[in-house]
Amino acid sequence: MCGIVGYLGKGYAQAPLIDGLRRLEYRGYDSAGVAFHEGNEFSLARETGRVKNLADSVQKNSSSSSLGIAHTRWATHGAVTVSNTHPHMSQDGKFVMVHNGVIENYGILKKFLVSKGIKFSSETDSEVLCNLIAYHYSELPTGEDRFIDAVRLALPQSRGAYGIVILCVDYSDTMIGARRGSPLVVGLGEEANFIASDASAFVGRAKEAVFLNDGELSIISGKNFRITTMEGEEAKAVAHPVEQISEEVELGDFDSYMEKEIFEQPTALENTLRGRFGDDGTTAKLGGLEGHEDELRNLDRIIFVACGTARHACMVGEYLIERLARVPVEVEHASEFRYRNSPKAGKSLVIAVSQSGETLDTLEAVREAKTKGLLTLGITNVVGSSLARETDGGVYQRVGPEIGVASTKAFSSQACLCAMLGLALGRMRDLSPTDGQAIVQALNDLPDLVTKVLQQGEQIRELAIKYSKAEHLLFLGRQSLYPVALEGALKLKEISYAHAEGYPAAELKHGPIALINPDCPSVFIVEGSSLSSKTIANMQEVKARKGPVLAIAPDNVEIPEEAVDDIFRLPVVHEVIRPILANLPLQLFAYHFARLRGLDVDKPRNLAKSVTVE
Ligand code: G6P
Repeated sequence: MCGIVGYLGKGYAQAPLIDGLRRLEYRGYDSAGVAFHEGNEFSLARETGRVKNLADSVQKNSSSSSLGIAHTRWATHGAVTVSNTHPHMSQDGKFVMVHNGVIENYGILKKFLVSKGIKFSSETDSEVLCNLIAYHYSELPTGEDRFIDAVRLALPQSRGAYGIVILCVDYSDTMIGARRGSPLVVGLGEEANFIASDASAFVGRAKEAVFLNDGELSIISGKNFRITTMEGEEAKAVAHPVEQISEEVELGDFDSYMEKEIFEQPTALENTLRGRFGDDGTTAKLGGLEGHEDELRNLDRIIFVACGTARHACMVGEYLIERLARVPVEVEHASEFRYRNSPKAGKSLVIAVSQSGETLDTLEAVREAKTKGLLTLGITNVVGSSLARETDGGVYQRVGPEIGVASTKAFSSQACLCAMLGLALGRMRDLSPTDGQAIVQALNDLPDLVTKVLQQGEQIRELAIKYSKAEHLLFLGRQSLYPVALEGALKLKEISYAHAEGYPAAELKHGPIALINPDCPSVFIVEGSSLSSKTIANMQEVKARKGPVLAIAPDNVEIPEEAVDDIFRLPVVHEVIRPILANLPLQLFAYHFARLRGLDVDKPRNLAKSVTVE
């Protein structure tokens, strides 16, 4: 994996392909490559490092081809080297292919191909699949469908996940894409057609996008395009306009997408909330849940499945939903849920949360839940994503594209939707109208309160300057602020590479306290409840061991001077929105901390925005 873009059109392929890769850079990668159809052969350029390196190298040897494929690779099989970089060419030079995903049985397939005399030049599973297609091609009689038939013979032999785009040297105006588990989208334009892993690759160049389903192939031939099943039956192509996303992916006046997305949160949350409250002002009305009211009213258990930041938002949901709706809630790492034989106790609802809607671990957890006959709902930001299509119902986050690898605005909207879900479920059960009304009011106040907190960004920058030499930090919070501690630590390590751990504040004394010394600061996220005195006692335990303490605390919580070195104050708010507000200074802290270290916050090392492998 990571980013794919293929071009077939009237003009030169070079510029749109390199531009497409640039637009996919946000997904994270460690090398990039491009291949052009040059009549009787393919030309190939591949570089480790940034797309810029590839662009410079391609510039020196410009191609006038109008058919090509390009890829940014995030290493799975084999090190970050030029030979492992995509596109891969079959040994006979007949095919070039780019691939996202993992071919799990590539070892067996490789053995078979080696026995046929095929030699490999990379360590990748992708080169194996490319050669398998070439092998079938060599065995087929000449004919119009030979290319597509070879693809159709090879793909069912591979186990695992793929999104591929492949070219054959004998077909100068055909590009084939195929999907199982890894997203692919066809872009239809007047001058050219595209196949990419993400519609942002062809924004401004294609008018409509058609998302492929698992098991589908897209065949672009000259100006024509069709989608078929693996067996060759025509499949339905539903086109979505792409213009709507073009402006949202521009950086504007900001230095990085992460900064832009942090400051976009008031608007993002307004969009998440808009039109989603009942007329009587006491409950939330989530359209995607309509038709499931009876099932929701009679639930015995909710299981959230998610990864990374999205899982932390689910953990916020766990505390809020249990409190508001009195339904038992569990939060599982999606990757664990999938293989765990969790008993099917009573009527369970599985809610999968994923910004991209394409995280493979999360999708597989949903598929497992469906196999067990459980109702599944999705919370996702990407319209038409696999998660949106595969769940029984769900809710869109509506925060616009999130480009920064470190998730920020998506977390806030996911936590907000969890609170709304808690409210809706609570009102279906025993939450009073008065309590419902107070929560609706709090949620409606959220965008303005977020603006207010973000306006104090300069104070956070100063705190980041003070603490930015630290190589180890602890983040501590209780109840719904415990996931915020986890998220604060995750954000910091993702983009600054400092070592940070999140813990429930009381857990400090059960181990992590051994780490405390003058070089290991602790960030306490203090709740505005009766528990705050206990958290302050934990802060004092740190201070007693000469550990620096930074507190993020509501205005009305008094903290003795001897318990803290620095305090960032938050407005006093309803508990349902407290985690969202408390997380904002931690986003900014991580952002400034990383910037002070001269790091590129949008492209942290080794990370990918959307992880489409297990
Ligand atoms: C990757 C990203 C994380 C993200 C996680 C889940 O690991 O680096 O930032 O939280 O995937 O992504 P999703 O799209 O499913 O929310």
